[in-house]
Amino acid sequence: MDVLVPLLQLLVLLLTLPLHLLALLGCWQPLCKTYFPYLMAVLPRKSNHKMESKKRELFSQIKGLMGASGKVALLELGCGTGANFQFYPAGCRVTCLDPNPHFEKFLTKSMAENRHLQYEQFVVAPGEDMRQLADGSMDVVVCTLVLCSVQSPRNVLQEVQRVLRPGGVLFFWEHVAEPQGSWALMWQQIVEPTWKHIADGCCLTRETWKDLEKAGFSEVQMERQPSLFKWLPVGPHIMGKAVKHFPSPKALICSLPSLQLQATHQPIYLPLRGT
Ligand SMILES: C[S@@+](CC[C@H](N)C(=O)[O-])C[C@H]1O[C@@H](n2cnc3c(N)ncnc32)[C@H](O)[C@@H]1O
Repeated sequence: MDVLVPLLQLLVLLLTLPLHLLALLGCWQPLCKTYFPYLMAVLPRKSNHKMESKKRELFSQIKGLMGASGKVALLELGCGTGANFQFYPAGCRVTCLDPNPHFEKFLTKSMAENRHLQYEQFVVAPGEDMRQLADGSMDVVVCTLVLCSVQSPRNVLQEVQRVLRPGGVLFFWEHVAEPQGSWALMWQQIVEPTWKHIADGCCLTRETWKDLEKAGFSEVQMERQPSLFKWLPVGPHIMGKAVKHFPSPKALICSLPSLQLQATHQPIYLPLRGT
């Protein structure tokens, strides 16, 4: 397999040479950014149909995060066309973020179709740098089919941690690499360099569950799901949630300057000798 994969990758690359040349010349990306939203206006309709009950089950948990106000500040990271809006409960104040401004037209349509939600703003920015959003300003972050496309899942998850309030929850649904040593993974590796250009940077072989586990959440729950479309090299999927930890009482005291003295002058209790 070690020799076969690069050889077959080269073959696919040769077959799709014009695409790679356009990408090399910098002409492909602007084109892709323009047509990709049209593709995403069709594909999620099919996947939502298959995932309807699972998505409903996952996002029904958002209700549990509503305080006395009955409102939840929700960030949809890599919102695309807004395909998840229909699954959110009323009371969500939705902030949308996506680096591709060409999604706006489709997003506006989804907003008009889902009037049970309140929309705050559409931020055009990558998830790696969400400086427009304040620390701890979100109760919920939603990220579906996004971590496959970002430049750095690690940096995005760091930003997610920053914008979530303590106890806030990241809900995710992502496609990931097939199992090590499988033919399906080999197929993903062969088509990945070409697929990335066609599908706006989407990587097929990311082991995103590892990034989620390492991102410093206090609790990560996920289930693995089979591929949705057997004819596509995309999948299997992971679906679940990750909870941002509450700071420890000691960290809280140290973060308040006026109380620092108290924190550093705590009496130290040693066991009494001879007792
Ligand atoms: C496959 S689409 C999924 C869209 C939507 N979340 C859904 O489930 O239908 C991937 C989305 O991730 C966005 N994206 C790509 N790079 C990103 C980044 N660095 N930060 C945030 N979103 C990104 C794309 O613009 C696109 O909207």
